[in-house]
Amino acid sequence: MAAVARRRSSSVGLSPVAATELTDSVVIVVFGASGDLAKKKTFPALFGLFKNGLLPRKTKIVGYARTKMTHDEFIDRITQRLNYNKDDQTQVTKVQKFKDIVSYVSGQYDSDEGFIELNKHVVALEDEMQVETRDRFFYFALPPSVFAEVSVHLRKEVYPPGEKDSVRVIIEKPFGRDLKTSRELQDKLSQVWQENEMFRIDHYLGKEMVKNILILRFGNVFFSSSWNRNTISNVQISFKEPFGTEGRGGYFDNIGIIRDVMQNHLLQVLSLVAMERPVSFDSEDIRDEKVKVLKAIAPLDIKNCVLGQYDKSIDGTKPAYTDDETVKPGSRAVTFATIALSIENERWEGVPFILRAGKALDEAKVEIRIQFKDVPRGIFQSIPRNELVIRVQPEEAIYLKMNCKYPGLSTRTLPTDMDLTYHSRYADLRIPEAYEALILDALKGDHSNFVRDDELDVSWTLFTPLLDLIDNDESIIPEKYPYGSRGPASVSKFLSDRGYVRDTAGLYQWPVTRGNL
Ligand code: BG6
Repeated sequence: MAAVARRRSSSVGLSPVAATELTDSVVIVVFGASGDLAKKKTFPALFGLFKNGLLPRKTKIVGYARTKMTHDEFIDRITQRLNYNKDDQTQVTKVQKFKDIVSYVSGQYDSDEGFIELNKHVVALEDEMQVETRDRFFYFALPPSVFAEVSVHLRKEVYPPGEKDSVRVIIEKPFGRDLKTSRELQDKLSQVWQENEMFRIDHYLGKEMVKNILILRFGNVFFSSSWNRNTISNVQISFKEPFGTEGRGGYFDNIGIIRDVMQNHLLQVLSLVAMERPVSFDSEDIRDEKVKVLKAIAPLDIKNCVLGQYDKSIDGTKPAYTDDETVKPGSRAVTFATIALSIENERWEGVPFILRAGKALDEAKVEIRIQFKDVPRGIFQSIPRNELVIRVQPEEAIYLKMNCKYPGLSTRTLPTDMDLTYHSRYADLRIPEAYEALILDALKGDHSNFVRDDELDVSWTLFTPLLDLIDNDESIIPEKYPYGSRGPASVSKFLSDRGYVRDTAGLYQWPVTRGNL
């Protein structure tokens, strides 16, 4: 059976991340190629890699879907969202070359025929490229309801025969809606694929600042030595979107923000912020530590949650969640949640980790905010707390809020910061899209930024009892908040009860400008 070798990496020098290599050739098959995910994310990411010369030397890409389309119709569709400058002839030529490596096969997901055709097509492409090994990369841009079925057909008809050949399968959430359904899916998939052939995408793990967390923590002694309950008061991981679920309410109504964003994206970020130092940057060493810290989280308690649902905006121009016709009347779906988690281990006991996620809020922002404890009083009447903020998006940045002397003859203190804003410091560098980074990792066989089966199991074990309670207990009614606001009114008290001190003096605001003086 073909298997992607699990490699160990050294962690020497400037490139500590797993040292893995691209295969010489690959055939990438995108399933669900006529859908939105493929058009908006998968093909643009593949083009981004192609444009920068990051795909294997010999690459062919095949789209597979049920829709009957001609080659030209397919190419038109998947090139709509490619990112390139139409006035730059070099880039236009790159697009043309990209089109030349893409082809389309239409077929069903529930019968062998289409897969037999697909296999013939893939073999022909491999023969044309004169490959030494048959390395196949299956990207499921598909609803999870067909993952298992497609897997069975692929295993039967399209699995490469040679010992040295390899298969990688990319799948994406939702991986079930609770522990039971996640395990059912996992059972079916594990009958077909080995764990090291599967790459479960959580696209937050491909974001530049999320990938930065381990380097920041373990590559800087002043952070690694203060990263614990002696110094840190509380940690907040926040996700804010300024738009509601307009148009996808029907889908969202059965899901809610906790399943949509928290159990996966925010919990993944938390595990990187809180885990112990891994033995190496090898993907299994990293994921072992992530699982350990997830297991140390105490069961979630509804008393440590604020749940919300957005209402009309104050000026009445934006709709309430329940105004959406695709939503059940009187729906209790949660569009905002704040949950405080406790990690019961030596490093973190007593430090609340607060996850916060909401739709239809006042801004678009994802950040990690680590608030340090007060400095001892005595010499200062009152002085703001230090905070380290890792701004994931938009405008990637890391800034450390600190106090310094007001410049000049005065001796009063001034809240200020050390600011590493990426677009000004690294103006010439392009930060890749999360999907580009993740597809490249998977092509190289590096699992570090993908979710392992046991991580998934622990995260569902943690969230399922709380989700069951919220789903079934009709007395739990989410608190309303106006569309475009900061969220439910009770959140401020919830945060201050858990130790967070909000600087209300208004002396500091990021980014600092001269006005701060
Ligand atoms: C998805 C959620 O996983 O992540 C969406 O289903 C959410 O509801 C999206 O909008 C956010 O991703 P990003 O990359 O825009 O922060």
